[in-house]
Amino acid sequence: MRSLLLLAAIGLHGAAAEDGLNAWLRYARVDNAKHCQSKLPSTIVTLNATEGFPVYTAGQELSKGFDGIIGKKVDVDSIVASRGRRGHKSRDTTATVGTVAAYVDSNPGAAARLPELIDDGFHVSVSCGNVLILGQNERGALYGAFHYLTRLAQGDCSDFTLTSNPGAPIRWVNQWDNMQDGGTHGSVERGYGGDSIFFWDGKVRDDLTRAGQYARLLASIGINAVVVNNVNADPKTLTPANMDGLARIANAFRPYGVQLGVSLNFAAPQTLGGLSTFDPLDQGVIDWWQGIADALYQRIPDMVGYLVKANSEGQPGPMTYNRTLADGANLFARTLKPHGGIILFRAFVYDHRTLNQTLDWKADRANAAGDYFEGLDDKFDDNVAIQIKYGPIDFQVREPVSPLFSHLRKTASAIELQITQEYLGQQAHLVYLAPMWKELLDFDFRVDGKRSTTADIVGGRRFPRKLGGFAGVVNVGTNTTWLGSHLAMSNLYAYGKLAWDASASPEGVLKEWIKLTFSDDHKVVDVITKMSMASWPAYENYSGNLGIQTLTDILLGHYGPNPGSQDGNPWGQWTRADADSIGMDRTVWNGTGFTGQYPPEIAAMYERPETTPDNLMLWFHHVPYTHKLKSGKTVIQHFYDAHYEGSATAQTFPQLWRKLEGRRGIDRERYEHVLYRLVYQAGHSLVWRDSVNQFYFNKSSIPDARGRVGNHPYRIEAEAMSLEGYRAYRVSPFEAASGARCIVTETNSTRATASAVLDRVATGRYDVAVNYYDMALGNATWELYVGADRVGRWKGDLEYNLGRAPSPYIDGQTAARVTFPGVKIKRGSTLKIVGTPDGLEPAPVDYISILPEGVVD
Ligand code: GCU
Repeated sequence: MRSLLLLAAIGLHGAAAEDGLNAWLRYARVDNAKHCQSKLPSTIVTLNATEGFPVYTAGQELSKGFDGIIGKKVDVDSIVASRGRRGHKSRDTTATVGTVAAYVDSNPGAAARLPELIDDGFHVSVSCGNVLILGQNERGALYGAFHYLTRLAQGDCSDFTLTSNPGAPIRWVNQWDNMQDGGTHGSVERGYGGDSIFFWDGKVRDDLTRAGQYARLLASIGINAVVVNNVNADPKTLTPANMDGLARIANAFRPYGVQLGVSLNFAAPQTLGGLSTFDPLDQGVIDWWQGIADALYQRIPDMVGYLVKANSEGQPGPMTYNRTLADGANLFARTLKPHGGIILFRAFVYDHRTLNQTLDWKADRANAAGDYFEGLDDKFDDNVAIQIKYGPIDFQVREPVSPLFSHLRKTASAIELQITQEYLGQQAHLVYLAPMWKELLDFDFRVDGKRSTTADIVGGRRFPRKLGGFAGVVNVGTNTTWLGSHLAMSNLYAYGKLAWDASASPEGVLKEWIKLTFSDDHKVVDVITKMSMASWPAYENYSGNLGIQTLTDILLGHYGPNPGSQDGNPWGQWTRADADSIGMDRTVWNGTGFTGQYPPEIAAMYERPETTPDNLMLWFHHVPYTHKLKSGKTVIQHFYDAHYEGSATAQTFPQLWRKLEGRRGIDRERYEHVLYRLVYQAGHSLVWRDSVNQFYFNKSSIPDARGRVGNHPYRIEAEAMSLEGYRAYRVSPFEAASGARCIVTETNSTRATASAVLDRVATGRYDVAVNYYDMALGNATWELYVGADRVGRWKGDLEYNLGRAPSPYIDGQTAARVTFPGVKIKRGSTLKIVGTPDGLEPAPVDYISILPEGVVD
């Protein structure tokens, strides 16, 4: 009976079911645990530990980690350093963990031997079972403990000594959590992992268990603060009851050394405080904000500070009163100063209402940040850092680094990265982002002709400054996978690692994450590394390449393809594509002048197509489709080829993943969860490929030199089948459907069929793929028959299984594909789709492909 129960608990493939909650901190038993047992200390001693603070937590984590990873139970002995330790036997081996100050207190002679640590830095030395873990502060000690445990969890129990200091003091994450579900963005704006773990129904949640678990994960990768509410801030966050709630979140974070930050709404003095103005220079306004800061610090003495989005996308700000952005930022800085807080003021400032593409060739959203911050470099107080999105537009798949980093020499800055994949597949596509971040961080601005990388600028090294660093928009939710996808968590892990040390290698970090999250089985490591490293280039290839930006639907969910949506509106993510040419002319000599925002060497490089890298060509230049790239291809042929290549790479992901079934660390639950997404991605990458290629083929009338675009010999268009209860429907945008049309049921209550005689298909086995649309308006059902045999049945329930933004439309966002492999087909048999509508979802079908082995069409 016992073994039966055990079998049930570990599942079919030997690995226990995992839901992702512990992410990379699973403390799963390593293969060489036995060998490592003797290398572990026999006692853990924490110095001056207080429950609820990081050194205490470090002791608990070590004990828990030793037990889980190695199977050795080790107790924690907490001592007050200055009083020494009771009952210590000299043959004991010990893990000592504490701050440098506490350690020196009990070992005065050690001071001279210790390496230099800065805030949050740590020193770990492991030698013959004795472990010394010291932090410059309590948080650093916890980081050191996590570092040691992370090595053990990868099966490495050898001796080592390491001193590690962070590359930047600001290593924050931002959550775009709303106080209330509903509206256009639900509980978490651009969140794809469920509802907010912090707020519900306008209040802070009663149960904040997940907040503590989140802080634990973040601390283990060196993140030191979380801004918990949306940058589009709700003034009601600052009611006394909600401030009490924020204090409870801070309590949940504190054991992990994670500080709490708050996003502010600039107009709160008026909308919440009842004042007649929110002018940042008005004394009444200043006093009101001082009252808020005092009230917050009374409840949260270690609050990290504020994040402010002002005068952007309809948010209020100082410019409403003709004040500068510096006036706005300093208002908050001064109220925080007495409490030691800092403010991150966002550079994402632009007006989405007045940019006019048609009338003004020189209009350019990319210029906004540089323009608005011009002349302000020496105007900010020293507890302000400017938080700058990595690119001048908005988290696109490829952007040049924002030139603003090179303008701020006297003001601290932080780079804003996005872990939640808003424009990058919304966690329904595997896109490992660290290689992209690395390129951005390594970018050399050549300020004054000297090496000036983004990492050195935000790290406060190029222009020496105390503040600076990283902000990552994460947007985890209540889903046990946190982000909605197990594989997407590599991005969060890598974000923390790069924020700590921008010289880390994306591939090295990835491998570490794989070993911790799954296992060090070489096949597991190889396959996930291969897929992940190929994923950003693949996504760039099948979404938007040559710097044209991610060609998502920018007016709706920012998810599926819709190249046409970029232009003709004031949002300014323009491509300026017409019948002959494409791209934004951002040159000084003839365009928007944006290139002139870079230091001279870089400006000169981007000013001319000859010296602009191909991957940013259309970001900087408006060129004919026939323009020859450095690769020798024309722009249009590059588009076609890249979309085919990128989607072909995505087809390999499910195949690769299937090789891991049953391997060590790949439990059934996670295996299925990942496979589901990769299969979906493979299908959706084809939607991307065809939509984008069809769109530009239609615009340019230039055929694909390789004859693929618009030519799909294996497809049966649904609208060309015999329809009963189905009718043809013209899809908008046209390119979101093969042949511009799909079929939908005539009513939303009766089943419908579409059939075709396969008289030109030779008898044999085929993969049968059906492209359909899964809208968030119901759960239609489809059945596929060949002759009398039912090949398969599926439901339109992607909206429950994928976290990506739901959509009620038949378009590139809802287009999906299901494939049935190895279907036996006899020439002349009838293929039939039976669609059963549900709610307002009319069981739409685009086309069916009958594919010989190895063909994807
Ligand atoms: C993007 C995103 C918004 C967000 C904004 C921001 O535009 O789509 O949801 O509010 O960025 O960063 O402020």
